[in-house]
Amino acid sequence: MDRVENVPAAPADKPFTVYLARQKREITVAADKTLLQALHDAGINYYGSCLEGRCSNCLCRVISGTIDHRDSVLTEKERARGDRIITCVSRGAAGERLVLDL
Ligand code: FES
Repeated sequence: MDRVENVPAAPADKPFTVYLARQKREITVAADKTLLQALHDAGINYYGSCLEGRCSNCLCRVISGTIDHRDSVLTEKERARGDRIITCVSRGAAGERLVLDL
């Protein structure tokens, strides 16, 4: 079993940007928002259910950028590939701009 435990949100989260490659749009994820919330705020109807990083329904493909994984659903191998993010809990690493397949 190579699943990892969920990492709680850090009190000092930083904002990060995501570029939506198919839509050619950039949005900022505020320090106090999740990526999923930021997508919704930008008018993007993206699905989530547990909102706790446990079900993977909100998974999104990542084209580039370093992910700060905080879910408990991806395996270590999946995390190491760096090509998917659980949008309800995980974030871009500090100072990172993630490019999403959206
Ligand atoms: S909504 Fe369940 S992992 Fe994000």
